[in-house]
Amino acid sequence: MNAYATPEIADGIFHVGCKDWKRRVFDAIAITPLGTTYNSYIVRGADKTALIDTNHKGFEDEYTGKIGQVLGSHTIDYIVMNHAEPDHAGLIPYMLDRCDATVLASEKGVKLAQLYYKIPDNRIRAVADNEIVDLGGKTLQFLSAPHLHWPETMFTYIPEQKLLFSCDFFSAHNTTGFFDDEAEDVILWAKKYYAEIMMPLAKMAQKGMDRIKDIEIEIIAPSHGPVYRNPQTIIDAYKEWTSGKTRPKALIVYVSMYHTVEGMVRTFADALMAEGIDVRVVDLTTSDPRELAGDLVDTRALVLGTPTLLGNVHPLSMFALNIVKTLRPPLKYGYIINSYGWGKGAVKKGIAYLEEKLRIEPAGTVEINGAPTDEDNEMIRKSAKEFADKIKSDDA
Ligand code: FEO
Repeated sequence: MNAYATPEIADGIFHVGCKDWKRRVFDAIAITPLGTTYNSYIVRGADKTALIDTNHKGFEDEYTGKIGQVLGSHTIDYIVMNHAEPDHAGLIPYMLDRCDATVLASEKGVKLAQLYYKIPDNRIRAVADNEIVDLGGKTLQFLSAPHLHWPETMFTYIPEQKLLFSCDFFSAHNTTGFFDDEAEDVILWAKKYYAEIMMPLAKMAQKGMDRIKDIEIEIIAPSHGPVYRNPQTIIDAYKEWTSGKTRPKALIVYVSMYHTVEGMVRTFADALMAEGIDVRVVDLTTSDPRELAGDLVDTRALVLGTPTLLGNVHPLSMFALNIVKTLRPPLKYGYIINSYGWGKGAVKKGIAYLEEKLRIEPAGTVEINGAPTDEDNEMIRKSAKEFADKIKSDDA
């Protein structure tokens, strides 16, 4: 009986990656409640064997156990480095100490591998776009796909099996199952991953989609999360996400010090929903704004609810706004909901941020001194209806 799970994802191609169930944050920005996986694959041809990417440091024993189980008496001839980030390339030096393989990477990848991993010149070689390496009955074709996620990234395609190793592209921080039809909430986690890694580079992600549009794909084997043996769903989802299309959807993020802003947000959100807007509400006092990422992929409107604090928006709002700015979502409209006490200032500062940093249209504001009266609440409902009409007008 085998000691490790090393599923054969296609004839002669084995998953030897490791699941990191304990990881709870990635790059200090992506929250990973399910942990993540560091996928790596062995491709056995009739003559040669290739290892596709490696693993994160800390998984040496499990990883080499899996490789040994799959290899038997075979040896590794090539280590393909699709991406130089340590979650994929971290164990390249460790593997080079244990086999005679040559690392294959893009030209920029070679430079980064030498910088990060001190790989000697005689153990690494640059491959060109479309270059083919024959393993015997299977070929590896390298497809340039830069900035998905670093500048050196590339895809590796096996035409004989219509299988694409896509690295971070199509990935998800999802440790459930090995295949898409076994895993839970596949598109939800892939969308969140897209938001965190690909959305800030959406133009490059569009180019990535163009790069693969004319090749036949039956299996996508990414570097995190499940292998897609039914790839059309994730391909269709990526077509939608990379298009930058938004839906009639509003994300409301708010901070409330005395429950006043919270009450205004509740009135505003209910009125938007009554007009058919899909609404998400996040209390920044109790939630981590990094959880917003996935919702930003297709949200059209951002509403900030904030009290005035010392003439400005509440600093927790600024943290959330900075995360939104970093992820560069395709938002179109912004709105500010504010309650102030002895001095104004938050609305002006909030609008300036929407215009100058997020580069979205400030579509309106609600600004109330103290707690809202019944008349104020009626005004909030009316304002929300007008905003809903504006959000929906994009689809008219
Ligand atoms: Fe999964 Fe960009 O590293």
